[in-house]
Amino acid sequence: MPVFGFPEPLLDALRTARRMVVLTGAGVSAESGVPTFRDAQTGLWANFKPEDLATPGAFRRNPRLVWEWYATRRARVGEAQPNPGHFAIAELERRMPEFLLATQNVDGLHQRAGSRNVVELHGNITRTKCFEEGTAVESWPATAEAPPHCPRCGGWLRPDVVWFGEMLPEEEFARALAASRRCEVLFSVGTSALVHPAASLPLDALDAGAWVVEVNPQRTPLTPRVDYFLEGVSGVILPALLKAAWPA
Ligand code: OAD
Repeated sequence: MPVFGFPEPLLDALRTARRMVVLTGAGVSAESGVPTFRDAQTGLWANFKPEDLATPGAFRRNPRLVWEWYATRRARVGEAQPNPGHFAIAELERRMPEFLLATQNVDGLHQRAGSRNVVELHGNITRTKCFEEGTAVESWPATAEAPPHCPRCGGWLRPDVVWFGEMLPEEEFARALAASRRCEVLFSVGTSALVHPAASLPLDALDAGAWVVEVNPQRTPLTPRVDYFLEGVSGVILPALLKAAWPA
């Protein structure tokens, strides 16, 4: 494990913090083999852009294509395993009296790594809902049709994720915003900090006087604003940071 010289004030802030928020993006799952949004789409989907598929309009125009794209991603997520970055975030939660993980990821890997207090700002690809009713659908009769139909109203089924142009789940975002305004330390991990309103949470924390720490191998629009920019991949940086803060 490479030894990082983390700034002592940051380690002290972690040891004394009582209220923490962690905001994550696709970068946290990159080391689990789940492609990020802004990596080139590989393989079968190389000639499609997420922005062209992850929208209600795209679904109405070509429901089979969108359903099958998500089925491919769901299968890939099912094969993925949480990585050391996910486990480090779950350990951080266990060390904090008050903790909230606000994730933009839809892969459910944080929960599989043991994170408990999680809000999914953009939904979860393993859940399905009715396109017409907007309510969850746990099961439906086996069918070769893609997308399958809602057993209640006959409308199309769709993944329970937030598409471009759709509102975030209100309660989840409200919880993340309240926590960001209360916390003493907010981590922004593995996100390009481009997509609002999730990208505004670190700014709300800064405005409320919190320490903001960014973990990313690349700089982002948030980088100039943060107190600490830890350059590197989360699967290495986060375990090393915990080891430095709590060596025993
Ligand atoms: P992006 O693909 O926009 O950004 C991924 C970020 O992770 C980039 O800043 C990378 O530098 C960084 N990264 C890559 N590998 C990493 C690693 N191993 N460790 C740490 N960071 C790493 O993904 P998001 O920021 O999550 O929204 O995108 C935000 C939203 O845009 C997504 O939730 C999705 C998309 O539109 C919806 O679907 C509504």
